[in-house]
Amino acid sequence: MIIVKLGGSIITDKNKYKTFRLNETENIIKQLININDDFIIVHGGGSFGHIMAKKYKLPGKLSEKSLNGYTIVHNDMLELSIKISNLLLKYNINNIGIPVSSIIYNNKKNYNIFKKYFSMNIMPLSYGDVYLKNQNCLGIYSGDNIVYDLSRIFKPEKVIFISDVDGIYDKNPKKYSNAKLLKIVNKNNNFKSDNNDVTGGIMGKYKIMKKISKLGIKTYLINGFYPQRLNLIDNNEFIGTVVWSNAGD
Ligand code: ADP
Ligand code: IPE
Repeated sequence: MIIVKLGGSIITDKNKYKTFRLNETENIIKQLININDDFIIVHGGGSFGHIMAKKYKLPGKLSEKSLNGYTIVHNDMLELSIKISNLLLKYNINNIGIPVSSIIYNNKKNYNIFKKYFSMNIMPLSYGDVYLKNQNCLGIYSGDNIVYDLSRIFKPEKVIFISDVDGIYDKNPKKYSNAKLLKIVNKNNNFKSDNNDVTGGIMGKYKIMKKISKLGIKTYLINGFYPQRLNLIDNNEFIGTVVWSNAGD
């Protein structure tokens, strides 16, 4: 099994509120179904999640305003998820959307339903979303965190994060033309990240990739604008970043 995270940066234009990248997302899905393996997809929020979350100060204390934001962000995420669900259906992949609010309650997580659906050949489709952290606090659980939880449960052979950059660089490649791609990240690699996300950006992603790799699972970051690279994983021509436990701490 492979667990795939479709990053908000590739499935949406992160700078324009609710701009879905239909062609790019469809191309990735087409490539995924050609891989001869089961997969589970988790997706991020991009401009369906982060923009309104920031505006309504989420995650944060429960108030009338933040509760408004909670509903808006959840509904926007649902809208995005339905687009992805319909694309999957177009390629005959039956799926069921499972929001974070039905996984986490009162600090307890329950992923049993994922196993059930998966065993029935219905792909559980989850995504970063808002949830009630406790009586006073509204949280946001990122798609990357869900990927980590699912990796512990399903022990997939591979976890692939798909984003809008070739991999992890020593500094933000969108700002620095001399940024260098780090093919393998280990404890000797120091990279810089600037983050504009409510869920931690590339640094947060790297920390989660490292945690997943410690489960003994090879973890990749690749550029979704070139979905054919999905077929090059573990091949000499592979372009992307691999994080795995042998690579250091
Ligand atoms: P996603 O939305 O795909 O989950 P993020 O937006 O969290 O991913 O992270 C990807 C973004 O991180 C890229 O678009 C890139 O501009 C930015 N970034 C900042 N620093 C780096 C870095 N050192 N290496 C790669 N990307 C970086
Ligand atoms: C964030 O999920 C979801 C919300 C902001 C509601 P992610 O953190 O997984 O989203 P991306 O991939 O960075 O956009």
